[in-house]
Order: sequence, then structure tokens, then C-alpha cells
Amino acid sequence: MGAHLDLRGRTQFSFIVVYAVGYVTNDPAIFIGIRSSVITGIPHRTGHNNSLLSNFILRGKTIGNTLAGFGNNNQIRNSARRIMAIYAIGDLHLSVAADKPMDIFAGWENHTEKLIANWKKKITDQDTIVLAGDISWEMSLGKAIPDFRLIHQLPGQKIILKGNHDYWWTSLSKMRETLEKHELDSIHFLHNNSYYVEGVHICGSRGWIFENGEPYDEKIIRREALRIEASLKSRGSEEGETMLFLHYPPIYAGQTLEPYIKLMQQYGVSRCYYGHIHGKGYKYAVSGLCRGIEMSLISADYLSFDPLLIKK
Ligand SMILES: [Fe+2]
Ligand SMILES: [Fe+2]
Repeated sequence: MGAHLDLRGRTQFSFIVVYAVGYVTNDPAIFIGIRSSVITGIPHRTGHNNSLLSNFILRGKTIGNTLAGFGNNNQIRNSARRIMAIYAIGDLHLSVAADKPMDIFAGWENHTEKLIANWKKKITDQDTIVLAGDISWEMSLGKAIPDFRLIHQLPGQKIILKGNHDYWWTSLSKMRETLEKHELDSIHFLHNNSYYVEGVHICGSRGWIFENGEPYDEKIIRREALRIEASLKSRGSEEGETMLFLHYPPIYAGQTLEPYIKLMQQYGVSRCYYGHIHGKGYKYAVSGLCRGIEMSLISADYLSFDPLLIKK
């Protein structure tokens, strides 16, 4: 038996038959359990049509190849456009191919199936959805392909950012190359860049959080602040609201990541969406107007696995 205890770093772990999983948060009672069954995927669905996109611009530095139709500062328009909606949800915690179900956690029974049903009910190929980290349990890019395929087969363009569990995350060029190879062209990465979608500048990064009384580490906060700022700086001059997506909450359980709040204020961020917080942690999460920014928790369980409409 091995253990997987999330300490936010590159914690080594192994598993043989049964393994424990855990989140370390301010409330250590959150998310501790034993895995034992299998999650199945969804029926194959192909045929995303990028020409349906009405207005989708990638801004910022790109490294290596970009996905077809999504080059640097590339804008795709469709004359027969309709109003496109933007949705958001975090913490999908997918494990299509691996025996890593979430059913052992209260409220997470059949969560993948619930997510798929809710997603298909409201999201079309013309819409965009931001997935705010903790996408897949897999440890490598190659092994995460079934999870990416599931995401790709769902309608809409998906913008993904990194969560603390996304150990498969590697360089932008490598991730893009891999998705391109597998023709998963409805998935895009938010990393030192931004997207302009239907009047909204979509910016973001993983962020940071201090848990279990860890000391305040200037270096790690600064590094992530640079990523947040790179994303905000990459915006074009188009008019529109700026929304910042983080995996970690910028304010949680009495702790505030001041440098991130200051960046949001400096760059005129009107709304901040974040994930990571599950179960008993909800009570410490900040929602509503705070320091001039509308804050919202969008972890999948908090949203009952139903993507949140954020712009129509
Ligand atoms: Fe999570
Ligand atoms: Fe997380």
C-alpha cells in the first residue's frame, strides 16, 4: 500500500492495490479517503468545428507549435455568429483510464457522469469554458490523454489552467504538441498568456495558498505573481471586462495573498474565480465583492458539477 498525500510540492508516491488520497487544507478533515473502484468515460464524440467560433483570441507569448487555428493573436470570426457564452468550473479531478475514482468522497459519487450531463445540457460548441485546475489525477501527459479526450469530446472551447494536482503539466510547447498530435484542438492552456473571448479578457494562473501554518514564502509568492502579471499584461487593447482565474483562492481562512489582490486592482480585474476548496472548506471561502473584486468559488463539488455561466 502506498500513499498520495498532497503537499503541493512534487511529493513522491506509489500505489499498488489500494491507496489513500488527501488534500491538505486548513481543515485537514477535508478529502481523505481510500480509492477502490473505476470511473468510466463517455461515448466517443468527434467533430469540433473551430469555424463555429465567433471571437476567440489568444494573446501572449507562445512557445513552439500552436494548435490549428489558434496561433498567436489569431482571431476567428464567423459571419453567422450568435452570442457566445462563457462558463467556468474547477477541479474536475478526472481519472478516466486510471483506477482513481472520487466516489469515496462524500458528494463526489458519479461526479464525472453528473458533470457530463450538466455540461451537455447547457454548453454548445460555440461557447467557451474555463477549467480552473485540478483537471486530471494522472501523473504524466501521455497518461492524461483519456482525460483530455473526454474534455475535448464535450462541447465548446476549453481553457485550462494548472492546479496543484496537475502533475502531468509540463512546458507549454510540449503540452500543445501532445494535444495537437492527438487532435484535441478544443483545449487551450492559460499560462503566461490570456484569451479575449466575446468582450472578456480571460487571464489567470495557479496562484498560491498557505496551509497548515506554513511560513510565508516571499519567493514562491513572487514567482506566481510574475505569472499572474504576465497573463494580465498580455491582454490586447480590446474593450472589455478582465476576469482572473486562479486555482488557489487569493483570500481564504483569514489569509490574503496581498500581492495578487494588488495586481488585480492595478490591472482592473473585475472578477476573480478560483477552485481548490472542497467540502468543509466552503465555509472559509470568500464570495461576493471583496476589495473591489467580485470573488467566486467554482470548484466542481461546490457547483454540484454544473458549470457556472459567467458571461452571456
Ligand atoms: Fe481540487
Ligand atoms: Fe487543488
